[in-house]
Amino acid sequence: MDFHALHDVVHTSRDARCQQHLPRLSLAERDALIARYHPDYRQSAYRPIAFGPNAGDRTVHELAAMLEGDSRIADDLSLTPTHTVDVLVVGGGGAGCAAALHAHGQGANVLLATKLRLGDSNSVMAQGGMQIAVAPDDSPVQHFLDTLKGGHMQNDHRLLRTMVEEGPSIARWLLELGVLFDRDDDGNLHVKRGGGSTRARLLTCSDYTGLEIMRVLKDEVLNQNIHLLEFAAAVELLSDEHGACSGAVFLDLDNKRHIVVAARTVILATGGIGRLHIQGFPTSNHYGATGDGLALAYRMGVPLVHIDTFQYHPSGCAYPEQLVGQLVTEGIRSEGGHLVNAKGERFVNELDTRDVVASSIIRECEEGRGVRTVTGRVGVWLDTPGLEVKDGEGTLEKHFPAMVRQYARYGVDIRTDPVLIYPTLHYQNGGVKVDANGETPVPRLFVAGETSGGLHGRNRLMGNSLLDLMVFGKRSGITAAARAKTVQQGQLTLGHLCRFRDEARKHKVAGQVVSPKVFPDYAEKT
Ligand code: FUM
Repeated sequence: MDFHALHDVVHTSRDARCQQHLPRLSLAERDALIARYHPDYRQSAYRPIAFGPNAGDRTVHELAAMLEGDSRIADDLSLTPTHTVDVLVVGGGGAGCAAALHAHGQGANVLLATKLRLGDSNSVMAQGGMQIAVAPDDSPVQHFLDTLKGGHMQNDHRLLRTMVEEGPSIARWLLELGVLFDRDDDGNLHVKRGGGSTRARLLTCSDYTGLEIMRVLKDEVLNQNIHLLEFAAAVELLSDEHGACSGAVFLDLDNKRHIVVAARTVILATGGIGRLHIQGFPTSNHYGATGDGLALAYRMGVPLVHIDTFQYHPSGCAYPEQLVGQLVTEGIRSEGGHLVNAKGERFVNELDTRDVVASSIIRECEEGRGVRTVTGRVGVWLDTPGLEVKDGEGTLEKHFPAMVRQYARYGVDIRTDPVLIYPTLHYQNGGVKVDANGETPVPRLFVAGETSGGLHGRNRLMGNSLLDLMVFGKRSGITAAARAKTVQQGQLTLGHLCRFRDEARKHKVAGQVVSPKVFPDYAEKT
């Protein structure tokens, strides 16, 4: 059958589907479903890490190899610094910009170094919104409870409490800087409901929330004349004679030479890991999302938490081929978009948590109720035209203008045609162990944003990442700046790397993989 003819079932089943109410799953049903279908539970995809702070812990093969990987620099690299600063921020996404701005605001001499251009990150691609309890029927306590339930009760309570309580002040800060959040007809901030949440608390800027927030943060970094180093990939941290962090080594991607930065404090904000394509999944992530900060922190001896759990966003694009893996925002399901299998049936409450929705889609596809494309991909329908029918013509253009254009570029009109989706690797639920100021167990080393772990437990709720970046970017920036005032610049050594290499040799895993990867495997090599 012609692929486009397969749409018909979505249109013909719509009226009946609209009468249906599908409850969210009970905890027992959720656990049974994800244990059977969620990729986190595929035992063959996992193995124990051979050595280092997480020795013996199981994680996916791709991450284990990266953590055990060898540095690309020699032990005897000359460590004469070209820059000496109070606070070095590594990463130019949301967490990095927030950290740099707040550290600078404390009077610190800040250098922000980033692998690509300022702003090139997952943050800029964030579509659906930012959860902050600002609505009259909402509260930080309710936000805390929803997030805890979504995270399988595994969230670090201190981190979570800090995030939800500081949310409203972050909204004020962003508004003062000039972020144009959507508003109701009466001028109040408009809030939408995300999956797994009991209240509408997503602040949005249509379906380009991250782009709008980053527009403002990037401007502010430039306005404040914060010193920038672009196209500089962090390839190693530096340690002093006591094991504290004292700077970093970068690879200058333009000139292929090393740049050494001495810093009293270092904040890693290098983002996610999607471009490792764990278990062969496509990804919604930015090209630079290769988990660099995880490898760097691990070699310094910092433990990671929850590294056995990853988020597969339910609605990754499965057709057309040019968009495979790209995000189709959960916002469409928040507005009432149905998920529909090849038989025209709904099969899950579309606003259940992401692990439940993703597992249900995988189940439908594995049990033969998926739709196959000409290239052999499989997925289920997201009934985008249903929103035009339900809420009136022009709804998609009004609320999801970026999505309408993204598909139109490849000849798909999502106002008339449903879109085929399948889970895409979206987020690493875990990361580097930090306290509520983003500080790691290694002195003077801080981590903020997706590179850190613990806050989201085993499943992040939609919109909590943008808030995470702002809250912990801010807190790490302020704390790192304060710490820099009280300490001297440490010596620049590679002592931690020598120790790591000794360990690797003992475990016979030396030199198999180079990490951080810096770019995906299919990139032209640096
Ligand atoms: O679906 C989305 O728009 C994704 C949001 C998020 O991951 O927070």
